Amino acid sequence: MPQHYLQEDFLYHRKGPWPQPSPSRPLQMAPEVLHLPVQEVWDWHKHVGIRYFSSLLSYSPKALLYAWQHPVLDSITDQQFVQLLTTSVYSQYLDPHLDQIDKQHFANYLNQYQTDTLFYKIDLSPMCFMNTSPGFYVAPTITLLRKDKQQFNCIAIKIGDLILTPENSHAWELSKYFVLQGAAYRINLITHPLLHLPFDAINAITKSSVPQGHLLFKLLYPHLRLALAVNHSVIESPFSIIANHPWMPYSPFSGSAEGSLHLLGVGYSGIKGNSSYPAYRYAIHPTFPTSDYGQFLQSYYHVIYEFVSQVILSIPVGDKIVKRWANYCSHWISGFPDGEAIFTENTFAATLSSYIWSVSVAHATDHQAFYSIPTNSVPFRLRLPPPNSHHIDAYDIRDLTHKVDFFKSKMAFQLFYKPYSVQRLIDVDYQFQQPHLIALQQAFIYHLRMTDAQSNPRYIALESIASSIQY
Ligand SMILES: [Fe+2]
Repeated sequence: MPQHYLQEDFLYHRKGPWPQPSPSRPLQMAPEVLHLPVQEVWDWHKHVGIRYFSSLLSYSPKALLYAWQHPVLDSITDQQFVQLLTTSVYSQYLDPHLDQIDKQHFANYLNQYQTDTLFYKIDLSPMCFMNTSPGFYVAPTITLLRKDKQQFNCIAIKIGDLILTPENSHAWELSKYFVLQGAAYRINLITHPLLHLPFDAINAITKSSVPQGHLLFKLLYPHLRLALAVNHSVIESPFSIIANHPWMPYSPFSGSAEGSLHLLGVGYSGIKGNSSYPAYRYAIHPTFPTSDYGQFLQSYYHVIYEFVSQVILSIPVGDKIVKRWANYCSHWISGFPDGEAIFTENTFAATLSSYIWSVSVAHATDHQAFYSIPTNSVPFRLRLPPPNSHHIDAYDIRDLTHKVDFFKSKMAFQLFYKPYSVQRLIDVDYQFQQPHLIALQQAFIYHLRMTDAQSNPRYIALESIASSIQY
């Protein structure tokens, strides 16, 4: 690599994007990139915005027909409820750490089992921060599960100040819908955004501080496309799904942008004392859910790590461009290794692998796995209040939702949750010049295909995985 660089060696002539403090919910959100290169804005309009617009026109009649024909929530047996929570995209919520407050709340139930019993909680208590428009209801819940061999069982649900078990028939059935509501909000507004927003700073810093000919740039560039504009539109656009204006046909939530932004802030800033909601730190070494979903994600991570660790052997230890890049990133992103730490042990390979895996496999799988949950098992809106005692009168499931709720839900699933790749991971081209690097890229594609062929369950087909945040 040259010792001296010219301005022309950098993308956008070194006048490109850069992170800054987020104006939304000050001090609680990930750094944002507010000033986007016009080329990236145009790329978004051409490939993403126009799809939203055409889907709005073409899919609305189908969504209307669907809502007319399917206006009622699915009945969920206890077995289906547990399966949804422990094998789907929601399984990443499984938390084996019961905080002291959880042990107090569930003491009567925990004491019924042997001391070596494995307990998990699914904590959806941040729903207390979600505002609601008149006629809609949400509830904070914590679900206690027990794992016996490979089998999960649901023991109790804490909803508000009430603790319910399957013996509380109608109250129990109703509380399950509030759990599923919280699970849908958490993926949309807390968990999944962590695969979008914190990566913007690294995206912008890479484009503006690393010369285009540098191997670090070549390795990351295919994984940077569209992300800045996608994230900017989500946070800043008045037409964003999180704004949830009543006239929007595609926003399914039951409260305004204030509640949505509050949950986004919770995801990034965390909740002090709650093991399920730590403040965001960059995961140099990602952890994986203890479920099939987690194993699926991990299998792709290994392939990416093997590839990246081989490629970076061509970057000298102590490389000054990498050092500066890491220092810039660590300034903006908590937990990101700085220019010294990046060269220790396998940190560089792990840091890059985590980035590439997060914005491609983890992100796309989240989308496909959520999209694959039946629309009528996702109660974004509930129109009856949560149970206020252990024994409530029977309610009519048809009163929980209206047709319009499923129309909006169906539109959101089609526009925002269904994966639409502009550039696929399987087609990735790092523009390597050296033969040994080209061979590594070919081997990478081969191993991705092998992983896809061996996946069971296959939460997303390799062909549907985008190379970056594109939706
Ligand atoms: Fe996404």
